[in-house]
Amino acid sequence: MTATDQPREHTTSPGGTVLVTRPVNNDAEMEAVYEIRREVFVREQGLTRTVYDEPDDRTSIHLVCQTGGRIVGTGRLTFVRDEAHIAWVAVRKADRGIGAGKALMEHLLSIARTRPVEYATLNAQTHALDFYQSFGFESIGRRFHMSQIEHQFMIKVL
Ligand code: COA
Repeated sequence: MTATDQPREHTTSPGGTVLVTRPVNNDAEMEAVYEIRREVFVREQGLTRTVYDEPDDRTSIHLVCQTGGRIVGTGRLTFVRDEAHIAWVAVRKADRGIGAGKALMEHLLSIARTRPVEYATLNAQTHALDFYQSFGFESIGRRFHMSQIEHQFMIKVL
């Protein structure tokens, strides 16, 4: 196992929920990733109609967040030149607010730091700006819309 393959355990406070984040390592888990994307980005937000994002999906690291044996969230990390790009971060609606998003972001950033890249980048939905700012991301450039949802490019020096 390399550092990037290691599962990470996060104990949230004050709830004490144990969350595990780890890279996807088979097709069945990848299907769970697509199902969360469908649930959140298609059915809840209407942001997209397709949750398959090739070729980047094939070349990216996908994390899942699990609690009590259930996969509750996901996020993707793609290395492009000197950037680690984070995308498709989503937590099932019923499982928000217990630390899954934070656990995923911390693990994605820790993997990014193992590579010779200078920046982490992402396109944030503006309702989540404070969430990403809490990990040290800063807004750059104008806001823009994707399928009616306002977004902001953000960057963090690693
Ligand atoms: N705006 C501001 N702060 C937020 C936030 C939001 N939308 N969502 C969570 N936070 C804060 C929490 O209050 C918490 O703060 P604390 O550590 O001080 O208590 C911290 O961020 C971590 O929260 P957590 O429970 O880990 O977040 P989550 O599991 O609910 O996941 C999202 C956050 C954004 C991933 C989740 O709301 C989600 O999946 N939303 C729909 C999909 C989406 O919009 N994804 C982002 C695409 S850019």
